[in-house]
Amino acid sequence: MIQIAIMGLGTVGTGVAKVVAENAKQIERKLGEPLQVKRILVRRFKDGPYRQLMTDDFKRIEEDDDIRVVVETIGGVEAAYEYTKRALMAGKHVVTANKQLVAEHGCELLELAKKKNANYLFEASVGGGIPILHPLTQCMAANRIDEVYGILNGTTNYILTRMVRTGAFFSDALREAQAKGYAEADPTADVEGIDAGRKICILADLAFGHQVDPDKVPMEGITKLSLRDVKIAERAGYRIKLLGRAVRLPGGGRTAYVAPHLISEDNPISGVEDVFNAVMVKGNATGEVMFYGKGAGELPTASACVADVMECLQASPRREEIGWSHETAGFEDPLELHTRYYFRIEGSLTDAAMAFGQVEVLSEDGETAFLTDRISGQDAMQQSKFLNVLACMRVLA
Ligand code: HSE
Repeated sequence: MIQIAIMGLGTVGTGVAKVVAENAKQIERKLGEPLQVKRILVRRFKDGPYRQLMTDDFKRIEEDDDIRVVVETIGGVEAAYEYTKRALMAGKHVVTANKQLVAEHGCELLELAKKKNANYLFEASVGGGIPILHPLTQCMAANRIDEVYGILNGTTNYILTRMVRTGAFFSDALREAQAKGYAEADPTADVEGIDAGRKICILADLAFGHQVDPDKVPMEGITKLSLRDVKIAERAGYRIKLLGRAVRLPGGGRTAYVAPHLISEDNPISGVEDVFNAVMVKGNATGEVMFYGKGAGELPTASACVADVMECLQASPRREEIGWSHETAGFEDPLELHTRYYFRIEGSLTDAAMAFGQVEVLSEDGETAFLTDRISGQDAMQQSKFLNVLACMRVLA
């Protein structure tokens, strides 16, 4: 019998307990032994099927030599960070879905795990149930990764889909996403692009091998997005999606950011709806590879956690591939990127042409919407100072 502990019994923690119980046979067949949740760390005791396993004393996990893997689903940094360090110090493997902790302290926790001959695995921290970190670091290991981009937040994609397809109000769509267990405890992190920002940091860390500091990554969510722009974009053959992007720059630097983009209907990412996420990875040998699946929710996220638990138990004694350097130099402002821009302005086409030269007109219906040629972010910002800008977004090239 292999015993594990879960820290935190929210959406993902509950999902982990369910997957371990419901898929017990498949898991046992693969591990050669049954897997059992021995202890669950909670802040407050509550009645239910796991009542007997609950403790509010972390030492009962830390000091229990029978517990080989700890699944951290507390979320946030403070308690999660301290307990993760202590569990690794005690020689236990730690698995997590906690993107904030991995984005901020992953490098250090991986080093600690290595010192202790343990694993720190976090497949569930990006893309929920989609396998993305393992393929990126293992299956695509022979590539130079030039870019990673994708729809990385299920809540905002769900809200956008509901608003655009059924005319739902933002607040109603958000409430539905919360009821389905997609949203963060504080949904500001979802709608302001912070959750997607943490995920693109982790993807960039692994893709480029250097720490990307979340404080340096511009993050814009969907709260300022207007349905007017969605309609104009759709008429011109584009969809608007919230993307996280990490790009290797021609001069050798790297950049990352989160923002709504116009995406051509020809790009399969444009058709990704509801809670689904999709991540596109551009390798110099593979070209574009796309990963698609449910990006949030109890069971998809738990599936990734339990697979990591099984991997910890099978790896001997730990995996080598995953990790990145503390070095942050080489991170550049995303305004360095050259791309086409979408603008909606209060003004005329003449105003648009004065600022940007030739533009592609999308609408002249009282206000003016247009696409620029490929320009740098600095130029876009500089020239837009002469205009009364109502909306501005990058176009994914
Ligand atoms: N709140 C996150 C989302 C959960 O909506 O994508 C999964 O990380």
